[in-house]
Amino acid sequence: MPPKFSPAAAALLAAVLLGPAQAEPRQHVELPPPMREHMLANMRDHLAAIETISRLLAEGRYGEAADTAESRLGMSAMAAHGGHHMAPHMPEGMRAIGSAMHRAASRLAVGARDAEVRGDLAGALTGLADVMQQCVACHAAYRVH
Ligand code: HEC
Repeated sequence: MPPKFSPAAAALLAAVLLGPAQAEPRQHVELPPPMREHMLANMRDHLAAIETISRLLAEGRYGEAADTAESRLGMSAMAAHGGHHMAPHMPEGMRAIGSAMHRAASRLAVGARDAEVRGDLAGALTGLADVMQQCVACHAAYRVH
């Protein structure tokens, strides 16, 4: 079996073996500076929302988890965070991952409401993982610095 490296270890190894230029696989996206700051502030809120949602699910507060998912990450959040304003500045692939994340978060909200009815967390946890899969996918492919 070939050795397995975490993505971070693989990136470090690539940087050492290949030099920084070839080791940076992410596409740079040029954003006007105020928009970049706005996007990064949204990102920090995304992470805080993921923390809040996991904790609310763990505490069995499914309705609140659903509301947080929808209002801070879901299709409602896309409108509130100026997603329509930002989308034209993004490459097509990035835009697609962004809207996939917002859709996944709205599905997570539905999964959390189902958990309330059924007392079963599996759907909500899958929903949470599906949202984070889109965070990971976008971060692997794009950078703004
Ligand atoms: C459509 C693309 C995309 C999606 C989806 C996305 N991000 Fe990001 N995020 C970025 C980019 C691009 C950066 C800047 C990375 C860089 O330039 O090095 C970033 C940066 C961040 C940062 C650092 C913010 C700072 O102050 O520097 C955090 C935290 C973050 N993202 C969290 C998340 C979380 C959590 C999710 C999912 C719920 C998420 N992001 C989804 C593209 C995305």
